[in-house]
Amino acid sequence: MVEKSETNSVDALRAGKAKMMKIFISFAAGMAGLLFGLDIGVISGALPFITTHFDLTSRLQEWVVSAMMLGAALGAISTGWISFKLGRKKSLMSGAVLFVLGSLGSACAPNVVFLIISRVLLGFAVGIASYVAPLYLSEMSGKEDRGKLISMYQMMVTIGILTAFLSDTAFSYGGHWRMMLGVISIPAVLLLVSVFGLPDSPRWLASKGNFDKAKEILRSLSTDDAKADAELAEINESLKVKQEGWSLFKENKNVRRAVYLGMLLQAMQQFTGMNVILYYAPQIFKHAGFANTEQQMIATVICGLTNVLATLIAMKTVDKSGRKPILKIGFGGIALGTFLLGLCLFMINAGYSALWISIVAVIMTLFTIASFAMSAGPVVWVLCSEIQPLKSRDFGVACSTTTNWIVNMIIGATFLTLINLFGIAVTFWIYTSLNIIFIFLTVLLIPETKGISLENIEKNLMDGKKLRDIGV
Ligand code: BGC
Repeated sequence: MVEKSETNSVDALRAGKAKMMKIFISFAAGMAGLLFGLDIGVISGALPFITTHFDLTSRLQEWVVSAMMLGAALGAISTGWISFKLGRKKSLMSGAVLFVLGSLGSACAPNVVFLIISRVLLGFAVGIASYVAPLYLSEMSGKEDRGKLISMYQMMVTIGILTAFLSDTAFSYGGHWRMMLGVISIPAVLLLVSVFGLPDSPRWLASKGNFDKAKEILRSLSTDDAKADAELAEINESLKVKQEGWSLFKENKNVRRAVYLGMLLQAMQQFTGMNVILYYAPQIFKHAGFANTEQQMIATVICGLTNVLATLIAMKTVDKSGRKPILKIGFGGIALGTFLLGLCLFMINAGYSALWISIVAVIMTLFTIASFAMSAGPVVWVLCSEIQPLKSRDFGVACSTTTNWIVNMIIGATFLTLINLFGIAVTFWIYTSLNIIFIFLTVLLIPETKGISLENIEKNLMDGKKLRDIGV
């Protein structure tokens, strides 16, 4: 009797420890997401003050904004190699150091060149974070809650964007742009400190031949040794392929298929037009009567909040109803939202000034943001970290994450040109058509990976199954 209750309390202690470890892992990776979001969100509020301070031309303003995206693309592509060689933990650590340096550098910049260089550095950190954190989470979580954990990471991204809007508002009263940029170093230090306590990914350790350590970590994350050992056996099985990364990509058609699918998914995510909506939202709200700065700020915060709240829907549904249905609904929602938004803006530009048109435009803006946040926002990051085979996972995820940043840059750079060429309404309708195409692409090409181990997905891929069936 006594023995049984002792066993029970040992089990409870172990379960408690495993749970604490998982919470800590989510917290640390979540901090990386928060920084990703803070850095995306912070510049819009700071730019007007920076422009006045350094007397910037519009070309230089574009450089200040896009330096971060350029850095992020470079960061993501080079971290593939670093994270393969040094592991996820050390890569995150180097990202955190760069976050601290980049944010302090931008805050103290004596001239615009220094500012741009600091923003490239910061972008490099964002590239590392957006690459390593979802990958690490996918490798640390079980098949039952993998989608939820990575969606939680995306939620931290959205919270980061919202927090940046709020902190920009607070500092904007005194025009303190240096504070806006510098305050980000606080969560960056927090990330750095927490990463020290993280275990390395057991999958990465196993791929480097360190099976004992991999087993130890898997057991510490589980309440059942036999289950943890079975997981290690599955990992070992998937490591039997001989080559790695780039050479595997060149020689193995199945690996190439996974890499291209990841790149396609990230391109789809960006071509939804979500970031354009985020950039353009203040203008739409202005049309709707949110005229003064304070009202505009409130409008921006409403957008940020919608983004956060709708991500919660994805967290709840992604491991239950699955990735594919959410994606289809999301692309459908964005297509409808951008179509009606375009129509409202078309009517406004044609001289119709009824208030209801502006109100519908605002509702459609929020609807489009919500449709993205409950679907492609999180789900694309989830899928991209799931579909790559272990031996070429770093390479594959580096390619897809870099695609995200490059397309993000293209969208930002072409937005104004598109508006000048076709007008705002047609620009949004171009995104409508793209989202309709994405519904078909989802049906035809995207696999359902809910509740399936990474090793099984890999086996199906390597057996040559159709992409849409590798999760079955
Ligand atoms: C995207 C970003 C976007 C953000 C919005 C992310 O998943 O990659 O480009 O700005 O979601 O919440």
